[in-house]
Amino acid sequence: MKIVNIVGARPNFMKIAPLMRAYKQYNDSINPVLVHTGQHYDETMSKTFFEQLDIPRPDINLGVGSGSHAEQTAKIMMSFEKLIKDEKPDIVLVVGDVNSTMACTITAAKFGIKTVHVEAGLRSFDMTMPEEINRKVTDSICDYLFTTEESANKNLRNEGVKEERIFFVGNVMIDTLAYYLDKIKDMPLPFRGLTQNNSTDIDGIVEKNYATLTMHRPSNVDDRSVLEGIFFTLEKIQKDIPIVFPMHPRTRKNIDHFGLSGKVSGMRNLIITEPIGYFEFLRLNKTAKFILTDSGGLQEETTYLRIPCLTLRENTERPVTIDVGTNVLVGSDPDTILDEYGKIMNGNFKKGRTPFLWDGHAAERIVEQLAELA
Ligand code: UD1
Repeated sequence: MKIVNIVGARPNFMKIAPLMRAYKQYNDSINPVLVHTGQHYDETMSKTFFEQLDIPRPDINLGVGSGSHAEQTAKIMMSFEKLIKDEKPDIVLVVGDVNSTMACTITAAKFGIKTVHVEAGLRSFDMTMPEEINRKVTDSICDYLFTTEESANKNLRNEGVKEERIFFVGNVMIDTLAYYLDKIKDMPLPFRGLTQNNSTDIDGIVEKNYATLTMHRPSNVDDRSVLEGIFFTLEKIQKDIPIVFPMHPRTRKNIDHFGLSGKVSGMRNLIITEPIGYFEFLRLNKTAKFILTDSGGLQEETTYLRIPCLTLRENTERPVTIDVGTNVLVGSDPDTILDEYGKIMNGNFKKGRTPFLWDGHAAERIVEQLAELA
């Protein structure tokens, strides 16, 4: 059985890694092919992750690159259509919720090829998020839906998905986290050589006395006033505690575009770095006092690591991180952010637990299920 596996953007890489490992147990029945759409292409956004996570070199790279949503989606579909004709896969497997996820699912489904979505059913119910559109379209046409949390099962049932298409297996991104946590335990904090705004004494950063920040959602970084408001709040926080900020290319471009570079680099304790590798980021987060983020995946990773997470969004498609884990939604309102930040600094923040089935073995459960189809 030939399974074509799709990756495109940074968060896909940690999700595909454990699946590629799990396929090795089924050498005689499954032939996995790895396809990179090329949605992310910078070394720091792509190649580094393949090397660190030991992901096989993609068999095929479609090299589509950046563009508007329509351009990117169309380019992926056109290239992937040719690939399907050549490769004739039995199954196309997609992960996550990026444009590559949706584009390849639509293309495969129109060829009548069985499609599998890993991390299905998550819903923010916010149709202004491109990822929500990607998730809904993908799930509505995929044959097999593998889910990470109970809310996803419920969402799919509410959308009329038949029970036999839903498989509650756990979280492949947490598989990767659990797998590498022990391997990075002796790694020193990775700041030397990464800082760009020269002002901060990076040697002064010690375990549990810094925060990590990631921010790249269009809703936060494409709107000047929202972005300015967030930096207003960060300016206050960084006076108490250093904040390490590996900056996404979208965010960097917008800071320049809105003329905010001077203000941002003027914050002494905001340590801006290039996007960093998986190991460095995991090491950084493992001993952070707390994390500020608008990422989807980081809400889950902080829950697993039991690190307080302030999510700079109004909603989340991963409610288990709030109900069970260490996540709180703070949006972009300074008062709310500072209020929750105060709880962390006073030791009044919730502790959290590990969600059901986030045990490091989701990929094995998925591949076992796929092997039954062979
Ligand atoms: C994409 C995903 C988002 C995910 C994020 C993780 C969609 C709709 N969005 O958003 O869900 O959370 O990846 O990073 O699929 N760029 C570079 N180098 C790169 C890639 C991008 O400089 O290697 C720049 C380009 O200018 C590009 C911009 O970043 O226009 C945005 O890239 P894009 O892939 O369109 O969306 P992301 O914001 O990265």
